[in-house]
Amino acid sequence: MALEAWFMDESNEDQRLPHHRNPKELVSLNHLAELGVLYWHLNPNNYENDKELQKIREARGYNYMDLLDLCPEKVTNYEEKLRNFYTEHIHADEEIRYCLEGSGYFDVRDKDDQWIRIWIKAGDLIILPAGIYHRFTLDTSNYVKLMRLFLGEPVWTAYNRPQDDHPARKEYIKDLTGKMGAPLEAH
Ligand code: LAC
Ligand code: NI
Repeated sequence: MALEAWFMDESNEDQRLPHHRNPKELVSLNHLAELGVLYWHLNPNNYENDKELQKIREARGYNYMDLLDLCPEKVTNYEEKLRNFYTEHIHADEEIRYCLEGSGYFDVRDKDDQWIRIWIKAGDLIILPAGIYHRFTLDTSNYVKLMRLFLGEPVWTAYNRPQDDHPARKEYIKDLTGKMGAPLEAH
């Protein structure tokens, strides 16, 4: 099954619920690609010997890799980390995550500053571009195991919104504007 993504509703209910609009408003992979969000589906059972994964890593220079098992027993400051993941932020680099087990939601802002919720499950690899506003939450299954990839020495620093003057943000807006051929409105 292809990746599922949708525009979120405005309700303040539990972040781990799907938050579909009524009626549902699904978002295509093309729409995500326009925002610079890239997606592959791989075989999560074969991540140690996967040629396809190897090819992606080589093509994009992802020489660093680690695994993040998001459960209270394995993560120090679990609650605090989850809170930080769900605080809207950007990074100076791409965020590359490959879901090996479980599931969760990456939320990204679209061109009109609406939240798009991306549901990642085992086998889904996504790349969020540097400078995109985003956040992460577990879903109601409450567990995810992620591979984190990086080009060079990893830097996980999150810059919370607003970051209008951050170079990565400016660069991202410039790329988006280039693709759309029209200036973005300020928010
Ligand atoms: C993050 C976690 C989910 O960086 O890896 O948001
Ligand atoms: Ni992030």
